[in-house]
Amino acid sequence: AVERTLSIVKPDAVGKNVIGEIYSRFEKNGLAIVAAKMVQLDATRAGGFYAEHRGRPFFDDLITFMTSGPVMIQVLEGEGAIAKNRELMGATNPQDADAGTIRADFAQSIDANAVHGSDSAASAEREIAYFFAASDLCER
Ligand code: CMP
Repeated sequence: AVERTLSIVKPDAVGKNVIGEIYSRFEKNGLAIVAAKMVQLDATRAGGFYAEHRGRPFFDDLITFMTSGPVMIQVLEGEGAIAKNRELMGATNPQDADAGTIRADFAQSIDANAVHGSDSAASAEREIAYFFAASDLCER
């Protein structure tokens, strides 16, 4: 089925000027961008997005990192978009990511891991609504 998923190019990858290289991987693999914006998150907005991780030992470092510079946030659309995006990203820890994945090629560490992608249909729905109004999503 055609799905939508939320993708974030994180501050490390924005800082390395590889937004276009990452977008190219989405486009070459059947994912279309239907909404996008660059945002400087603050701790409140990043904390709300990652609310499910509040209380985990890595939460404070995650918020510090995600607010350390601008992020590029997009909605990707395509056949099986949620799983496809996760396949393209590779494992959360870049040390475990398969060769040729975004994280293997662009990430430094489990915190500075280049990209975020929704992990389920329920997460995708919540995460898209967190950053975009329904009217922001374009018909392709
Ligand atoms: P992301 O997919 O954006 O979701 C939460 C983020 O927390 C994750 O990517 C990692 O960058 C970061 N993180 C840091 N430590 C951990 C950990 N032990 N387990 C999962 N995520 C972690």
